[in-house]
Amino acid sequence: MHKRTDFVIRKMTCQDIPALLEVETDVFTTTWSEQAFLDEYNNPLTTYLLICEQQQVIGYAGFWLVVDEAQITNVAVKQNWQGLGLGRELMQALIKEARKQKAQSISLEVRASNLVAQNLYTSLGFQEVGIRPGYYLDNQENALLMQLII
Ligand SMILES: CC(C)(COP(=O)(O)OP(=O)(O)OC[C@H]1O[C@@H](n2cnc3c(N)ncnc32)[C@H](O)[C@@H]1OP(=O)(O)O)[C@@H](O)C(=O)NCCC(=O)NCCS
Repeated sequence: MHKRTDFVIRKMTCQDIPALLEVETDVFTTTWSEQAFLDEYNNPLTTYLLICEQQQVIGYAGFWLVVDEAQITNVAVKQNWQGLGLGRELMQALIKEARKQKAQSISLEVRASNLVAQNLYTSLGFQEVGIRPGYYLDNQENALLMQLII
């Protein structure tokens, strides 16, 4: 476990893709590919924010702006850095960025079993607005659909 020190939150560049792949491998069993990150980077609807400590990328979060809704695609903080408040800082910065881009709401899907992420989203004001049965293909788990009006 790391100690929390100084960190910065900034937008993604295409040079960040190798570091984002490292975050993916550290955090998820099913990971996005290099091409997937490149596609996200080249999509004009997307915004990705990274949280970094001394040049090292330790987490990221992003959304697609679809009309006036920011649809969160992913949120991840490397395992050794979890529980230090960085996921919250990242989400708060993402919400601020969605407001800046004139989104009226933010939505996301989260695994029904992922109570840590659900706690984070609820504490930021997100509410459960629906269920997508069998949404996750790896284990047919349900997704909770959560939304924040901003
Ligand atoms: C979900 C995730 C991004 C949270 O990031 P984090 O930096 O660990 O979270 P924070 O330290 O900012 O904590 C934020 C809130 O999350 C919840 N939380 C964090 N750790 C928790 C734990 N072990 N148990 C229960 N709730 C927890 C709490 O509500 C906490 O707020 P509090 O500290 O005021 O109680 C991170 O755990 C992660 O990357 N998980 C794996 C990937 C993932 O599940 N992504 C979400 C996909 S929808």
